[in-house]
Amino acid sequence: MSSSWFAGAIRAIESSCDETSAAVVHGNAIRSSIVASQVHLHEKWGGVVPEAAARAHVEAILPTIEEALDAAKTTLKGIDALAVTNRPGLVGALSVGVTAAKALALSLDAPLIGVHHLEGHLCSVLADGNQVPYPHLSLIASGGHTELVLVSEPLAYQIVGATIDDAAGEAFDKCARVLGLGYPGGRAIEEAALAFDHRTNPYSLPRGLDKDALDFSFSGLKTAVLRLVERAADSIDVVAAADAVQEAITSVLSERSVRAAERYGARAVTLVGGVAANTRLRERMAAECAQAGLPFFRPPLQLCTDNAAMIGIAGSLRLAKGFRDDFNLETLANAPLP
Ligand code: KG4
Ligand code: ZN
Repeated sequence: MSSSWFAGAIRAIESSCDETSAAVVHGNAIRSSIVASQVHLHEKWGGVVPEAAARAHVEAILPTIEEALDAAKTTLKGIDALAVTNRPGLVGALSVGVTAAKALALSLDAPLIGVHHLEGHLCSVLADGNQVPYPHLSLIASGGHTELVLVSEPLAYQIVGATIDDAAGEAFDKCARVLGLGYPGGRAIEEAALAFDHRTNPYSLPRGLDKDALDFSFSGLKTAVLRLVERAADSIDVVAAADAVQEAITSVLSERSVRAAERYGARAVTLVGGVAANTRLRERMAAECAQAGLPFFRPPLQLCTDNAAMIGIAGSLRLAKGFRDDFNLETLANAPLP
């Protein structure tokens, strides 16, 4: 293993939103990754309720940590360092993971590193030895973020495009709610659109911002879907509408990623974050990258949505470079990429 990676087992913890997750990683090799999802808890409200999320993290954190140790066939004594998401996210939720990581670091006398949640997503594509050339262009598309990031070398980031309003995942979630497809909306829209038979779609939805932009705007999409539903009332073709939403979102995401990669001379494109679980988006990006002669990388499905393994991989890179945090490590609701 190259010296870019920390030479030891890292226990990683992620609790920034609605998944409690613990993992054991060694460099970019994942020994275990356990995710306890709270989706069912928040389903009835149609979105994440911060207080309920924090309480559920408190209940899930210790069993999740134990399960990750068991799955990696190790014990606390086999852990050499702690990596934990400390920003950005729901502060109450983040504090549960950060407090657990501090307690473990103290009791094991092991180094502690706080990781930016988006850096975790960016590093998810490096799992299991994926050799991604630098500089590469990463599209982060999640429930809270839509950013085009130029990664010039490990841990060196420049944001070259971003949403000016809703995130892509948020757009999926809001449109799904308007169409009565439930929460979380991305998967629901993808599943509904599977039944579309690829005739010409009767609905045409806005793509936001002009074609040369590297930024995104998704707020008009939700309004347009709302109008469709109001106008069509009971006769709305939900399957066609779901397909139209998916096409509108995935087309701008893939076009702009390839445009940014070409504009900034990137040698590859990566797709990360919860929305990267979308099959249509993966296919579109793979096809457009192939056409532009750019290698395309994406993490396996289980590393697209929030997980601690990606936090461990990012933590390993940081620890190898000598970064350390102390017990004053804070949780932050908002923070720029480091
Ligand atoms: O990265 P993530 O798990 O959490 C955040 O950091 O936000 O992303 C969650 C987002 C949600 O908005 C969800 O609707 C979306 O990812 N998502 C999807 C799919 N699976 C999850 N969007 C489109 N298609 C999917 N299959
Ligand atoms: Zn995320």
